[in-house]
Amino acid sequence: MKHDDRASAELLEVLELTREFFEREKTRGLQNISMSHETWTALETAVEKAHVAAQQKHTTQKDAARKDIVSKDVALLLRDISALTSGCEKCHLAQTRTNLVFGQGNPNAKLVFVGEAPGADEDEQGLAFVGKAGQLLTKIIEAIKLKREEVYICNILKCRPPGNRTPTTEEIACCMPYLMKQLEAINPPIICALGNVAAHTLLNTTAPMNRLRGRFHKFGQALLMPTYHPAALLRNPDYKKFVWEDVQMIQKEYEKV
Ligand code: URA
Repeated sequence: MKHDDRASAELLEVLELTREFFEREKTRGLQNISMSHETWTALETAVEKAHVAAQQKHTTQKDAARKDIVSKDVALLLRDISALTSGCEKCHLAQTRTNLVFGQGNPNAKLVFVGEAPGADEDEQGLAFVGKAGQLLTKIIEAIKLKREEVYICNILKCRPPGNRTPTTEEIACCMPYLMKQLEAINPPIICALGNVAAHTLLNTTAPMNRLRGRFHKFGQALLMPTYHPAALLRNPDYKKFVWEDVQMIQKEYEKV
């Protein structure tokens, strides 16, 4: 037990004993306890406060322990899903990939970014968003006062389409169960879909990005914000102001959840 904890436990005991003493004396008929009404009330209040503080401390410790267990559980679950995914040969991308890119980040993230598919750098390193678009994504994350380690980052496809071509419907259909399991495990309140492929797949729509972005869409229990892909920003810096608007909305929501 820490010094502070021991001191407050001792204080609580002394207060309890004092109160019990006076209560006992009162029932024995002692009428003239030389203690003012204010002192008696103060004593009772002190006991009450010490009880509430002890209760709160207990609840906080229990909450922290529960959070710790949940966070370990999700990490283990993600490890299992990753292991399940690692040897995937459901589509022909298995033949051309160097590494499967499962995704990475905080298993308890309140915000998950979903991109399109690994590029050359990601395929090489086995990590999502580590190339030029990834560096821009890091800046976007930091612009809303978060760190990369606080969020989770993954893609619709786990394997790189050769030459970075757009994923086919068949490839997406093969890969989606993995992403859905991943999102189910993390259960984030906020998802950001980066680019058309992610937004169209997750929202089951073909509407253009300029009609989808700028507002949250329901995705199960989560709120999903579609926005332009960082690679599109590199090609077209005019989109920056829209992405900035979208991520500021995410930041506001993030502070609430
Ligand atoms: N583009 C994506 O959509 N995902 C990555 O991981 C990298 C680039």
